[in-house]
Amino acid sequence: MDLYEYQAKDLFARHGVPTQSGEVVQTADKAKQAAERIGGLVVIKAQVKVGGRGKAGGVKLATTPDEAFEKAQGILGLDIKGHIVHQVLVNPAADIDEEYYVSYLLDRANRTFLAMASKEGGMEIEQLAVERPDALAKVAIDALTGVDRAKAVEIVDAAGFDASVREPIIDLLIKLWDVFVKEDATLVEVNPLAKTTSGDVIALDGKVSLDENAGFRHPDHEALVDFTETDPLELRAQEKNLNYVKLSGSVGIIGNGAGLVMSTLDVVAYAGEEFGGQKPANFLDIGGGASAQVMADGLEIILSDAEVKAVFVNVFGGITACDAVANGIVQALELLASKGDAVTKPLVVRLDGNNADEGRTILRDAGNALVEIVDTMDDAARRVAELASKGA
Ligand SMILES: Nc1ncnc2c1ncn2[C@@H]1O[C@H](COP(=O)(O)OP(=O)(O)OP(=O)(O)O)[C@@H](O)[C@H]1O
Ligand SMILES: [Mg+2]
Repeated sequence: MDLYEYQAKDLFARHGVPTQSGEVVQTADKAKQAAERIGGLVVIKAQVKVGGRGKAGGVKLATTPDEAFEKAQGILGLDIKGHIVHQVLVNPAADIDEEYYVSYLLDRANRTFLAMASKEGGMEIEQLAVERPDALAKVAIDALTGVDRAKAVEIVDAAGFDASVREPIIDLLIKLWDVFVKEDATLVEVNPLAKTTSGDVIALDGKVSLDENAGFRHPDHEALVDFTETDPLELRAQEKNLNYVKLSGSVGIIGNGAGLVMSTLDVVAYAGEEFGGQKPANFLDIGGGASAQVMADGLEIILSDAEVKAVFVNVFGGITACDAVANGIVQALELLASKGDAVTKPLVVRLDGNNADEGRTILRDAGNALVEIVDTMDDAARRVAELASKGA
């Protein structure tokens, strides 16, 4: 889970990393009021979970509260790389002397943690990493020993920070490691880490990604989830404990087992090319015990997706045999019909594996005209792509 800048800075502050506190607001009026309270020069910053806000016009200075109103009005509603700005952070402006960069991340390729640091931080860091990689120091971190003073010194020396900021950055690096470990983050990044004209070192921007697998250790992290960002269908699926991911195509997919569903996505995308580029509309793994209720929940979510034109149910019977799954499909369709959500989109079903014949018989006997049984995965993928292209 990625955090907004203001949430990242809250975590920084909690662990003693020097940063700025500001106010998050949703309207230009409130930005003006915040600027009045803060007093003096302020900076208005778009809160979106994407980098490069500054370059996109999402970070602006304001000398007066009226100007804060104007700047906030310009930033709110802005589309930054596909992210619409709904809120801005109003921060006191810092008197910046120099901008540095520091981050900790999980280095999956090398199976370790990595510190990155540069005395040339700011908005061009991505360019720097490509054009002059030597200017971006990389120091591996042992997971067991972490960042103690010796490691922080090593990072500071590798980056070649000026003597005047050595001590404060060493101190900050140790505290930032605390954020990384204690919050179970996979990334903490400070860009810019600013040296002010008065010689202070503060985190002016913050990016944090939290490891959701460690969520059980952090009940407080739940408050950081931004439900306005989550797709409404994914939210409903979460409530029903379904492994559902919304995609952008027209073919709804239901399968049992993540591997089978993944390959179903591939096969459908491939077959769809022939029919005007039909693509999967979602990933949905109903898992092993595909009960009628789970099938109904899954179908309900997929069918309520307006972009879905046809559905592919791809099941390989194992411990839960195909006849049980077929019964699940039949009952699910009845369940939906009884709720007034009668299915009107075509369903292509492919059953294979344990009791496949029995399963097909059950579906045929149910006699639902919208349900088509196709024997192989490839043929079923072609058929469902064709049906989707006709836009049922
Ligand atoms: N509080 C502040 N006071 C003065 N200038 C600031 C302040 N916050 C940010 N800036 C300036 O705005 C620039 C961009 O800000 P920031 O790094 O937060 O956004 P960004 O461009 O989106 O960065 P990223 O791409 O890392 O998300 C900074 O490099 C800095 O020069
Ligand atoms: Mg930045």
